[in-house]
Amino acid sequence: MRMVEIIEKKRDGKALTTAEIEYFVQGYVAGTVPDYQASALLMAILWRGMEDRETRDLTLVMAHSGELLSLKDVAPFVVDKHSTGGVGDKVSLVVGPLVAACGLPVGKMSGRGLGFSGGTLDKMESIPGLRTDLSVAEFKAQLADIGVVITGQSANLAPADGKLYALRDVTGTVPSLPLIVSSIMSKKIASGADAIVLDVKVGSGAFMKTLEDAEKLASTMVRIGEEVGRKVAALLSDMNQPLGRAVGNTLEVREAVETLHGGGPEDFREHCLVVAGEMLALGGLVPDAAAGKSLALETIAAGTAWEKFRQLVMAQGGDVAYVDDPERLPQARLVEPVPAPVAGALARVQTDEIGMTVVALGGGREEVGATIDHAVGLVMHCKVGERVEKGQPLFTVHANDEDRRDEAVRRVLDALTFVDEPVEPLPIFYQRMI
Ligand code: URA
Repeated sequence: MRMVEIIEKKRDGKALTTAEIEYFVQGYVAGTVPDYQASALLMAILWRGMEDRETRDLTLVMAHSGELLSLKDVAPFVVDKHSTGGVGDKVSLVVGPLVAACGLPVGKMSGRGLGFSGGTLDKMESIPGLRTDLSVAEFKAQLADIGVVITGQSANLAPADGKLYALRDVTGTVPSLPLIVSSIMSKKIASGADAIVLDVKVGSGAFMKTLEDAEKLASTMVRIGEEVGRKVAALLSDMNQPLGRAVGNTLEVREAVETLHGGGPEDFREHCLVVAGEMLALGGLVPDAAAGKSLALETIAAGTAWEKFRQLVMAQGGDVAYVDDPERLPQARLVEPVPAPVAGALARVQTDEIGMTVVALGGGREEVGATIDHAVGLVMHCKVGERVEKGQPLFTVHANDEDRRDEAVRRVLDALTFVDEPVEPLPIFYQRMI
């Protein structure tokens, strides 16, 4: 088999065989397929798509590229959640410890920033000392010990996704249904969770821009999960504006900490409670998602979700003093509130542009393996539907470089549309799919 022929076949819109998909994935992990050929194939898949059978094959081959974890010896039933990628999406930082504090073990394998969307691992690494490269033994030991773990792919779990994810991030090959499905579901299958809640984002800050595409993505992932014996539920959630107010790694950790203390922005808190409720219901701890949401609310109020987050940070080597007093987390040198240039109601946010602005500030990667500046980002003070007066603070830029700060101000102002007439607020969720 020759890699160039596989690329040409997909370039010409033909379906790849299982053997060809295996040849590509195994060769890429082993280093015999170079980045340039992998990039070409990813771009061909993005343009030509894949049949359902190819997407399933790609997912399973990626899942089997490393170890397949069985967690039965440490926890009888483990639940997980995964987002398809958004802007300001720090949900995992809250719901992981929250659901674990309710008594349901959460074993989660997360990703890094991807395109305009942020990644949980990058956010977690804003906490000095915190490790996201746990070995399989560490993953299991921590799950048995404190009931929650959030780590990356380096533990020989779905290593194909670890490599392909980093390549997609810098080759414009993220927004492809088969590539997103295989990336997410290979990680979920490899990490051994019995039940998975998928948070499928739709809108200007999501890879799926329409409800129709998001539904297709959700139903494909649910089907693959069920085929391999997992319980799966999907929520379709709005991403036509950043979730919560903070966008940028450290700023998002601070917002997650506030939320675990019972505060935080209303939309973000509600989002976390609903996702946690679904996870608790899928895990059989409560009769339905509404009861799960109530339990999650009580658990935050009791302070046990916060205590579980501290345990998570400590277990992964993080210095808990920084989350106990988030003011100690790295801060950007330049913190500039930007006034509204006009009065009006916020009607639209070009949300992917908000995410790309944070990447350009240094908060994300523009090439494989680049280091990121955790402190930079944006705090948005206005949600769609809210009115502002001219001169009122609209957003705050956190930057470490004057030119990048000025560019960020220009880009964010261009990404926001104000109108005179009243505007309806956006929903948080559109629908639930099982
Ligand atoms: N999250 C992932 O893990 N992979 C994707 O491709 C998109 C979001």
